[in-house]
Amino acid sequence: MAQLVLGLDLGTSGVRVLAVDLGGKLIAEVNRSYPLLTPRPGWTEQRPGDWAKETLTALKEMADKLAGHDILGLGLSGQMHGMVPLDAHGEVVRNAILWNDQRTGAAITEMEERVPRQMMIQRTGNPAITGFHVGKLLWLRSEEPENFAKTKHSLLPKDYIGYLLTGELASEPSDNSGSNCFNLAKKQWDKEILQGLELPLELFPTVIASHEIRGKLNKEAASHTGLREGLPVIAGAGDNAAAATGLGLSSRRPELGSLSLGTSGVIFAPLTAAKPDPEGRVHLFCHADGGYNLLAVTLSAAGSFQWYRDSFYPQKSFAELIELAGSSPPGCNGVTFKPYLSGERTPHLNPELRGSWTGLSLATTQADIVRSVLEGVVFSLRDALDVITPLAELKTCLATGGGAQSDFWLQMVADVLRLPLQRPRQNQGAAYGAALLALQGLAVVEDATRVAKQSHSKTITPGETGRYIAALGRYRAVPLQTSED
Ligand code: XUL
Repeated sequence: MAQLVLGLDLGTSGVRVLAVDLGGKLIAEVNRSYPLLTPRPGWTEQRPGDWAKETLTALKEMADKLAGHDILGLGLSGQMHGMVPLDAHGEVVRNAILWNDQRTGAAITEMEERVPRQMMIQRTGNPAITGFHVGKLLWLRSEEPENFAKTKHSLLPKDYIGYLLTGELASEPSDNSGSNCFNLAKKQWDKEILQGLELPLELFPTVIASHEIRGKLNKEAASHTGLREGLPVIAGAGDNAAAATGLGLSSRRPELGSLSLGTSGVIFAPLTAAKPDPEGRVHLFCHADGGYNLLAVTLSAAGSFQWYRDSFYPQKSFAELIELAGSSPPGCNGVTFKPYLSGERTPHLNPELRGSWTGLSLATTQADIVRSVLEGVVFSLRDALDVITPLAELKTCLATGGGAQSDFWLQMVADVLRLPLQRPRQNQGAAYGAALLALQGLAVVEDATRVAKQSHSKTITPGETGRYIAALGRYRAVPLQTSED
């Protein structure tokens, strides 16, 4: 009877469950989706009941597929930052407020008044950030006081699923780091910050290591899924740390990071020690391996290109547009695009920033415009990398995400970021990393980051960076514009 572990990722569009053998080979996959609710502009919510239903269904489908196999455990991962309020009986008080929700502007101001900015950065690795977990609790306290009064536990999304499956309240450092109230050095909730915010420590679950067993599958979850009662459930990690684990990124090998050119652009840089940017322009989190990582997030990367295609050339393929871009020279004959279509995180941390085109003339061609979109995204990644460089030891990045499939765009990234890039041959995302953490938690392997037998594409080396210097200067000279301007 073959032995396997499961990895689960509670994403924003759906839940994914993978089965992996003890050597890290992918055996089976199940996906289920659920809706994203946008009750008002800038608000994003999900029903924890939808997560629960689809998770149990996905686990049941997986258990059916794997009949006859010996499943040893289940590792968890999920979208970061979200807030699930539970009452004293463990019932959900209101919909979960998600990582990309923008409602907490006033709560962020309140946090900055209550906790000095440098204290917040030095202890938690980040300034008060819209979208992070604790700001949502402060919002609940001021805007929905009845719901706040009922709230006895404040959980991150994957930890709610862990609670549902095991009945235990537990959490782990990588996801907790996105809360704005977790002490990175101590790897515990920060009592002084919670005091400053007048929030009781009891709201937050026990902290264990990412690879540790958070509890055993309870009777109810076992009967819904067909998995055996008592199955060990491993704490797991926030989706970025879990995905990095799956790619083999370790804080013990800080020279290898990852760069994802997906809807958003994400640079993950492992770190041996917790070194925050003094201005807090890039996120500092705990990695799932006991070390740390920087995480730079640009909000509209391949998302900008998708928006451009959908809005102006819905009949053209991405490949056709990229070919067209190739007929404009580096610098796009003076056209500059700023990709802040949904505000920006790294390095500006401003949800109100807006995008722009500048430098247009009667001589501007379609090719200049489309190339300017690709270049603008790459320049925004360069701004993010420039904050990371003095703090990290990055020498190479694994390039992932839809945009990284284009040789032309990826070469541009390597040129402008002056960073060698490689495409991993397999990238199964966060659910895969969660499964590897389960292997570590069950003592099948010593180190989850060493399981993936990675083979990468040939290195895409930086070419003539000089071609972009003037265009990068122009990009940086365009004044930042906000929705209020
Ligand atoms: C990280 C972040 C996102 C979510 C998406 O800071 O907000 O990557 O984790 O799931």
